[in-house]
Amino acid sequence: MSKPRVLVTRRIPEAGLKAVQDCADVEVWEGEGPIPHDVLLQKIASVEGLYCLLTDVVDEALLAQAPRLRVVSTMAVGYDHIDVHACTRRKIPVGNTPGVLTETTADCAFALLMAAARRISEAAEFVKAGCWGAWDPTLLVGHDVHGATLGIIGFGRIGQAVARRATGFGMRVLVNHSRPIADDILSQSHVEQVSFDQVVAESDFLSVHVPLTPETQHLIDRQVFNRMKPTAILINTARGKVVDSEALLDALRDRTIAYAALDVTDPEPLSAQDPLVMLPNCLIVPHIASASVATRTKMAVMAAENLRAGLAGQPLPHCVNPEVFEK
Ligand code: DGY
Repeated sequence: MSKPRVLVTRRIPEAGLKAVQDCADVEVWEGEGPIPHDVLLQKIASVEGLYCLLTDVVDEALLAQAPRLRVVSTMAVGYDHIDVHACTRRKIPVGNTPGVLTETTADCAFALLMAAARRISEAAEFVKAGCWGAWDPTLLVGHDVHGATLGIIGFGRIGQAVARRATGFGMRVLVNHSRPIADDILSQSHVEQVSFDQVVAESDFLSVHVPLTPETQHLIDRQVFNRMKPTAILINTARGKVVDSEALLDALRDRTIAYAALDVTDPEPLSAQDPLVMLPNCLIVPHIASASVATRTKMAVMAAENLRAGLAGQPLPHCVNPEVFEK
C-alpha cells in the first residue's frame, strides 16, 4: 500500500524526520530559509499531511488549495500562524508541541533577564572593542536581580517555570493571568496574583508569557509603557506582536523604560539596521528560546507523532482542535 504524502517545510532534526519518513512519503523543502508561500501553495495540493513551522502561514487561502490535506502539524507550541477555525471547518486536526519546550524557554527568558540586568552583551562588546582598561567602580554598573520584583504576564506552563527560577533568586514575583490561578499552584509557586495594572506598575522586570491572540495583540502598548517604572526591563519570549513595536521603540528611546530583552519581535526577522536593533538599551536574540539540542529534537519528534496520528485518522496526542474528532 502506498504511503500518504507529506510536505515538511524545512530541514528538521533527524529524529523527527525519521519518524515522519517511517509513516509517509516525504518531501522536505531544502531551500535556504522558510518555504516561499507561492511554493507552499503549489505543493500543498498533492499532500495528505503538512509538517510546518511557525514561519509558515496556514490560512483559508492555503487550505482552499489542499483538497487532500488530513492533518497539519506544527513544530511549535504557538499556533498563531495557523487559522485553526478554518482547519476545524474542514475537519483537519492541528497538532502542536506543548510541554517539551517549557523549561528550555524559561531558561532563555531568565538568561535574557539576567543579561539585561547586568548589561552582559554591552560588557562583552566592550571587551571585544578593546576598551577594557583598569578596574573602574562605575564601569557598566547594572541592576540586582536578587531582591527585585519580577512581573509575569501569563501564568501558564512557561510563566510558572520562570517563576520557579525567580524564587530561587530571591525575587518577589507578581503574576497576572487571564483566569483565577488554582490555590495549590499559587502556594507552591510563592507568587502573588495581582491585577494587570499592579504588575505593570510594580515590576522591576516584566516578562511576557501569553499566546498571541486577537486579545493579546499589542497588550504591551504605549499606555502600559507609561505606567511602568522608568528603571523597568521588559522581557519578551512569547510573540513579537504581543508588544507594540513602535511604542517600544519610543519608550526605549526616551527612557520611559530602561531596557528590553527580546527573543521575539514584530516583524521577524529584524534587519541589523532596524532602529530597535541599533538601540543601546535593547538586547535582541533571534527567536531561540526553545533552541537546545534536546528540546528541538523532542519538538520535532512530537510534531511527527501528531502527524502520524492524523494520517492514521486517530486523535493527535497534542491537538489544538480536538472537536474535529467528535462524531
Ligand atoms: C514555539 O514553539 O511557539 C516557540 O516560539 C518556538 O519554539
